[in-house]
Amino acid sequence: MEFKDHFKNIPCLETVRLKLNAFEREDMEEYFEILRDNRVQKYLGGGVPLFDKEPNITNWLNNVNDRLLKRRVVFTWCVGDKADGRILGRIDLGGFVKREMAEISYHYAYEVRGKGIATEAAKRVTEFGLNDLGLWRIQGLVHIQNAASIRVLEKVGYVREGVLHHYPFGREFHDVVMMAMVKEKPPG
Ligand SMILES: CC(C)(COP(=O)(O)OP(=O)(O)OC[C@H]1O[C@@H](n2cnc3c(N)ncnc32)[C@H](O)[C@@H]1OP(=O)(O)O)[C@@H](O)C(=O)NCCC(=O)NCCS
Repeated sequence: MEFKDHFKNIPCLETVRLKLNAFEREDMEEYFEILRDNRVQKYLGGGVPLFDKEPNITNWLNNVNDRLLKRRVVFTWCVGDKADGRILGRIDLGGFVKREMAEISYHYAYEVRGKGIATEAAKRVTEFGLNDLGLWRIQGLVHIQNAASIRVLEKVGYVREGVLHHYPFGREFHDVVMMAMVKEKPPG
């Protein structure tokens, strides 16, 4: 499959415990509950704005599942628990630069922290990016105090490249750690 062919629909990805799918309307209230928790929003650079009223919900669903996808801006997945269908969080792969590079980001419900969920999903999305899309670099920018998220990316195999000082992060400026997974090019 060519790079451009992946951007027709949000691909359904699976791991042992998780299902990564396009967001649907019936997922949204559970997702908003996650976003309403300040503990989730703490290191997201001013937070993900809550858009829990119409027409914002419809517009957002159209954006992530159609407009932004077709323009090859971002993949946005809803992360669900395979066992009971519960919505656990969200993961994105976007900011494509040519067909070479993209950025990963994610957030999950406070109640499911520490069970390896973020690591499992980030590993799967990273594989999709490197193997299916054929990217050479995936990076993750993490608030310098967000040790858990730095650890998530380290566990997936990302390398800490350094600190960017007073760097644009979400809607704010922070010191952030640049984590990156770079595929080795064959010699020559
Ligand atoms: C950060 C976040 C993604 C982690 O998700 P998670 O499902 O708990 O992550 P995992 O269980 O896969 O791994 C967390 C790791 O961080 C470690 N950790 C947790 N808190 C830590 C802390 N304060 N300091 C150091 N390590 C910490 C855990 O021990 C675990 O590592 P281990 O397996 O080696 O023990 C989740 O808490 C979250 O969504 N936070 C809010 C949004 C956010 O910050 N997103 C990231 C933006 S870059």
